Order: sequence, then C-alpha cells, then structure tokens
Amino acid sequence: MPHNYNDANRMKPQMQAYVRSTGAYVPPRRMSNDELAQLVDTSDEWIFSHTGIRYRHIAAEGVAASDLAVEAARIALQRAAIEPDEIDLILVATSTPDYLGLPATACIVQDRLKAGKAAAMDLVAACTGFVYGLQTARAFVESGAARTVLLIGSEVYSQIINWQDRNSCVLFGDGAGAVVVSAGQTAEGSRIIDGALYSRGQGAESLARLAGGSRRPLTEDQRASAECFLSMDGRSVYNFAVPALVETIQTLLQRNSLSFDDLDWVVPHQANVRIIEAAAKRAGFDPKKFFTNIAEYANTSAASVPIALDEMWRNGLLKRGQTIITVGFGGGLTYGGNLLVW
Ligand code: UT7
Repeated sequence: MPHNYNDANRMKPQMQAYVRSTGAYVPPRRMSNDELAQLVDTSDEWIFSHTGIRYRHIAAEGVAASDLAVEAARIALQRAAIEPDEIDLILVATSTPDYLGLPATACIVQDRLKAGKAAAMDLVAACTGFVYGLQTARAFVESGAARTVLLIGSEVYSQIINWQDRNSCVLFGDGAGAVVVSAGQTAEGSRIIDGALYSRGQGAESLARLAGGSRRPLTEDQRASAECFLSMDGRSVYNFAVPALVETIQTLLQRNSLSFDDLDWVVPHQANVRIIEAAAKRAGFDPKKFFTNIAEYANTSAASVPIALDEMWRNGLLKRGQTIITVGFGGGLTYGGNLLVW
C-alpha cells in the first residue's frame, strides 16, 4: 500500500531526472554449474531447474567491488558523453565493499575516475541496492541538489560466499552495472516517474553476513567460521520475494493510474527465475514482459538490475520512450521498485 512519503513524492520537482546511459562489466572468468558440482554436492540439473542459472562470472583473486565498478562506470560515462568532473554525486550500491565500513567504495571509484567535484557514498540495501540508489539519485536531481549522478551496483559475492554451502553458493555471481542519471529529459520524454521503497527488518537474519560488524565483531575463532560468510534461509527469502515483487509492481501501477498493459518491460532483480514466474502467475502479469538473464550471470545482487538494463539496451530491447518498472528484493529484508520512461 502507498506509504506516507508518497505525498512528498508527489511534490512538483524543480527538475526531472532521467537515465542517460548504462554500462556493465563482469569478470571474464565464467564458471559453469558442472564446474561448481566438482566443489559441492550439486548438479547442473538441480541448479538450472531450481533457479534458471547456468553460469556465473567470478572475479580474480585481489579484484574488489571498486575495480568492477570503475569498468562499468567508464562505459556509462563514455556513452553519456560526460566528463568525470561533471559528476556531482557517486553512489555505489554494494554489500561487498572494498573495505568493511570505511572508506566507502564510492570514494575509491571517485579517485580512480578523477571525478574531482563529486560527493561519494555507498548504499547498503543488498539486492535492492540499485533500486534504492535510483530513487536516491532521482531525489538529488529533482531537489536541485545534483545535476548528474553516477549510480553503480557492484558486487563480489564470490569473496563472501561460503563455498561449502550448496544452499547459497550456487546462486551468486560477481559483476557491476552503472547508470548516469541526469537532470532534464529527452525528446521521447525519458524520466524517472516514481519509486517505491520498503523494508522488513524482522527478516534481517534470513540473508546476512552475521559476523564482522559492530554487533558481532570478529573473534579469533570466528575468522574461519561460517558466520564470516553469507548465510541464507532460502525458503523464507523465496516466500518473502514473490509477494514483494507483486506488491511493488501493483503499487507503482496503481498510484500512477497505469495498468500492466501500459508497461513495455519489467526488469526484476535476477535472483531466481522461479520467483519471477511465480510472481507473474500470482498477479496474472504477462511473463514475457519480465526480462531475465540470470542463466549467464546468476544473482549479482545490487548489480543485477543495471547489468540487465545494459544488456537490454545493447540488444535493442530497451528503447527511448518505453515505460518500464525495475524491481529489487533481498537482504534487509528490503524491496522496492522504480517506474521510468526509458
Ligand atoms: O537476492 C535474494 C537472494 N536469495 C534468494 O533469492 C533465494 C530465494 N530462494 C530460492 O531461490 C530457493 O529457495 C532456493 C533456490 C535457494 C532453493 O530452492 P527450493 O526449491 O526452495 O529448495 P529447498 O531449499 O526447499 O531444498 C530442496 C532440497 C533440499 O534437500 P532435501 O532436504 O529435500 O533432501 C536441499 O538440501 O534441495 C537441496 N538442495 C540442493 N540440492 C542440490 C539445496 N541446494 C541444493 C543444491 N544442489 N545446490
């Protein structure tokens, strides 16, 4: 149901914000399900039939979130024909930052890009990070606080996965996706129309990296224990995700007086094809409008939506003037979406 902030959401903005360009980068190392089956007790058949995943890309040793982020960002900036010193704000959505807590990965990116005028900060909303970031970028632009925002989702889950836990290690991959959000609009009316963000903190521990923060600082023993790695209650995340997807899409449609037929695409977080199919079936949405590329990349968390947008744009699926909804859901628990004219 619409939240209170919706009123503020509806205030007439000083500026409109639109997505000006995309970029994406995944590490070259591509790991198949068969290869994974040599590490843990699983199979290509189980992984594909339960998730739709065939491959994931894995960062080389020593490659961090900022390294992938910079590659994706450079492509997005080049396509936008924007110089780094035109960027007002760099947002990096990541749950696998270069450093624990500080400094922000966005600051490493700012330095590498030589974006001399940009503020830089990270945003932690796990797999909903990009969706939260797009709404944040929109708010900065619409309020007049920024004209150009570089938003990047970048993840190196391979470094926090427990590679002995078949319940979770088969699901994730590494990668980065970026967008430039600018003030203004195109001849086709491109703009970010609306955003809906939610959180359900009571499910915090169903998808978490439990040790290493200020709640449970690392002890000597824990350094080698499972708590240092990602843990997941897959069934409860699944049960949360399906209605979250439906609610987000329905809310964005209803409060903008649109029907599902008005949409050209839904670009969901790529966690599991079955989650997407179940949500479409539950709400009677045409499943063909849901873009998926999880077979190639697995779940890249905050990077999955911008990687998908970039792939759609490069393949000519996404065109200026189309109406789309992006949806994210995951750790936090968090979920939400954005409604855009591309
Ligand atoms: O961005 C959000 C990130 N997380 C998610 O989106 C996760 C959401 N959850 C899911 O996608 C699904 O719950 C999973 C894909 C994680 C699991 O699928 P499921 O159909 O819910 O399987 P399950 O957890 O009910 O497990 C069924 C069986 C179990 O065996 P038993 O107890 O029935 O004998 C598991 O041990 O499948 C077994 N299993 C596996 N078998 C082979 C679990 N993982 C694997 C595996 N290979 N990798």
